[in-house]
Amino acid sequence: MQYGYFDNDKREYVITNPETPLPWINYLGADRFCGLISQSAGGYCFYEDALLRRILRYRYNNIPMDMGGRYLYLRDNKTEDFWSLTWQPVRPAIGEYKYECRHGMGYTRISSEYKGISTSTLYFVPKNEINEVWCCEVTNNTDVQRELSMFSFVEFCLIEAQKDMTDFQFNLNIGTTKVKDSVIYHDTLYGTDAIDIFAYFACNRELAGFDTQRRDFLGTYGSLEKPRAVVENKCRNSIARGWSPVGSHHIVLTLKPGETQKVVFVLGAAHNFGDELPIVEKYKDEKAVDVEMQKLKEYWDRNLSAYATSTPDEEINTMVNIWNQYQCRTTFNWSRSASYYESGIGRGMGFRDSCQDIVGFVHMIPHEARERLIDIASTQFETGDAYHQYQPLTKKGADGGFSDDHLWLILATAQYIKESGDLDILKVDTPYNCGEGGKSGTLYNHLDKALEFTVTHCGPEGLPLMLRADWNDCLNLNGAHKRAESVFTALQFIYVAKEMVQLADMMGDSEGKKKYQKYADDMIKNVNEYAWDGEWFKRGFTEEGRPVGSHVCDEGGQIYLLPQAWAVMAGASDRERLVTAMNSLNKRLASEHGIHLFLPGYEVYDWKLGAVSLYPAGLKENAGIFCHPNPWAIIAETILGRGDLAYQYHKALLPAAKNEISEVRKTEPYVYCQMIAGKDHTEFGEGKNSWLTGTAAWSFFAVSSYILGVRAGYDGLVVDPCIPKDWESLQVNRRFRGAEYSIKIFNPDKVNKGIKCIKVDGKEIEGNVLPYNKDKLKYDVEVYMG
Ligand code: GLC
Repeated sequence: MQYGYFDNDKREYVITNPETPLPWINYLGADRFCGLISQSAGGYCFYEDALLRRILRYRYNNIPMDMGGRYLYLRDNKTEDFWSLTWQPVRPAIGEYKYECRHGMGYTRISSEYKGISTSTLYFVPKNEINEVWCCEVTNNTDVQRELSMFSFVEFCLIEAQKDMTDFQFNLNIGTTKVKDSVIYHDTLYGTDAIDIFAYFACNRELAGFDTQRRDFLGTYGSLEKPRAVVENKCRNSIARGWSPVGSHHIVLTLKPGETQKVVFVLGAAHNFGDELPIVEKYKDEKAVDVEMQKLKEYWDRNLSAYATSTPDEEINTMVNIWNQYQCRTTFNWSRSASYYESGIGRGMGFRDSCQDIVGFVHMIPHEARERLIDIASTQFETGDAYHQYQPLTKKGADGGFSDDHLWLILATAQYIKESGDLDILKVDTPYNCGEGGKSGTLYNHLDKALEFTVTHCGPEGLPLMLRADWNDCLNLNGAHKRAESVFTALQFIYVAKEMVQLADMMGDSEGKKKYQKYADDMIKNVNEYAWDGEWFKRGFTEEGRPVGSHVCDEGGQIYLLPQAWAVMAGASDRERLVTAMNSLNKRLASEHGIHLFLPGYEVYDWKLGAVSLYPAGLKENAGIFCHPNPWAIIAETILGRGDLAYQYHKALLPAAKNEISEVRKTEPYVYCQMIAGKDHTEFGEGKNSWLTGTAAWSFFAVSSYILGVRAGYDGLVVDPCIPKDWESLQVNRRFRGAEYSIKIFNPDKVNKGIKCIKVDGKEIEGNVLPYNKDKLKYDVEVYMG
């Protein structure tokens, strides 16, 4: 069953039924101001930091689902009937009430029609502004004059989101608001040490009234579904002193037959009183909305033109050209901090997560990736390991002790250099430990220390110690002795040590080059000696030396996805072993909904395995189809040259390919989710935790760079497709280091992989690295496979 469809010409997903299986959301804003908005206008916004600068309040895990957001009510003042323009919160019966929601690139438009009044409300965050704009068009489709009242409604968060949800003896006594003309101000604690911003909510109309105290608008026991002020057509002009600050404007609209009127609202944040006035003034003129929307469109045109494809598979085209790249921007911006499943309170920017997000985003705006890399590296310790995360506003690190975090920095830096050619980044002086202690080193030193940390933290088999956990947060194999080892980290280490060999070579560091090569070779030896299980690679060892991910594991978890895929990605063994390992993965872990993280699931909690065995089998890290590592298997299959299998795995996960079974997948058909319930679970195939997941970056990387096979390399753009045999041709347009490459790939011999010849501007070239010359900005490339 489907709840909507893709409108690719407009780059929109159109939701036609508001009762989606889960809230289907969008992100407004590509810079410092971020809004989350669902198909029925639920959600919240924040400025720079979802924990420290939250503008709107949102209650997670609420009843009814997704209540609280950016609401507009209309009331017919003759009949006293009222409704909401975004379906929620009044939820008029569908049929009598027409509804459509279009999620686009940085904006959402929700339309309604009820009793002859149609509305279209556009929500977006203009580029480089720290505010949302809501532009609501109201049309009278009847042949009589209509007397209407419009009421807006938002509920303010007391800025610091954690405190807002706790400490009520305090925070029910701090809220303050004021109102000037048509602008409502929320200035709780503004000017104190804690808070240096205030929020405002403006409207470009004269007001018939307003409310800023929640109980005055709703009634003490009132609800969003039936607010007292709307029922009575009367606000109390309340000013909050304590309790719960909200913002509601009351506007009177008289519409002649056929007439349309627009009302514009601005919801934003500012540091100094007065800073907001030019913005408020600007949007008094409705034309400013069109101007800003045009800028937003141009911004996305530019971003998305960095990689565009036309393949025989429309669903792949939709995801690669539009939604997958769009999601990559969102994960790059907000890491794992704020979604409908991440409350914005628990986590900031993840060290490993943000490093991986760069892989999906770097081709769009390399200079932003550069800045991010330096921010991340600045949270690394001088010992080479790293804080696990940092808060975006303060850039201060927190937490730590993982075996893999620091190694991702090498992978991300390597990817940035391949994309940009900017080797100089390795010479940038970068602080350690958030600048505390004043120590710093070049980024190259940081990478070296990352590798050294792992070299000096290996266990009895010479494999990296598991420490608190590796990529899998929940595989906690340590007890008192802390001797558990991770095969995944060993493979990740080999992969990045090989990158270091190349970086050292380019830096003219011959000692380093030798050292890194030796590190890689030694680790390859250890992996093959201790981690091969006969038909696949093991996942690790507990501190008692018990294998995890082995055929001897009767408790569950006999075969894991990660070591098979990473053994191939790292080139950690001979082809025969790698093929055997990937065949075992295919036989034991693959399914129509994606590849399981491992199987069978653990049925009993075992503290020696850790949190992984806490979840019911089939969910999350306990034998769920964890999506993030699926692209690793896809990349591995392309390396082995098995394009049909790579394609099959890609399609099993692809959100757009699940649009018609949305009642099963449940999460948005336009973005990846973190996890899909595995076959040990009753809801096999049900997606959870959409948007902020490493799946976005890795899926894009896998399909764009390995299936379609156009990827950045140190020496230039590499062409190396690995596609389904029955694809006859495809096209990729790629911007790379400022030049535009138009690449046509032909597959006359129906192969998966292999290139017979490449012509650039009509001339055949040697090898598969496309030429680059900084003075030539356009290249026409023809690739013949065979
Ligand atoms: C979540 C985390 C990620 C971790 C993964 C597996 O997606 O964001 O950092 O690697 O879970 O535990």
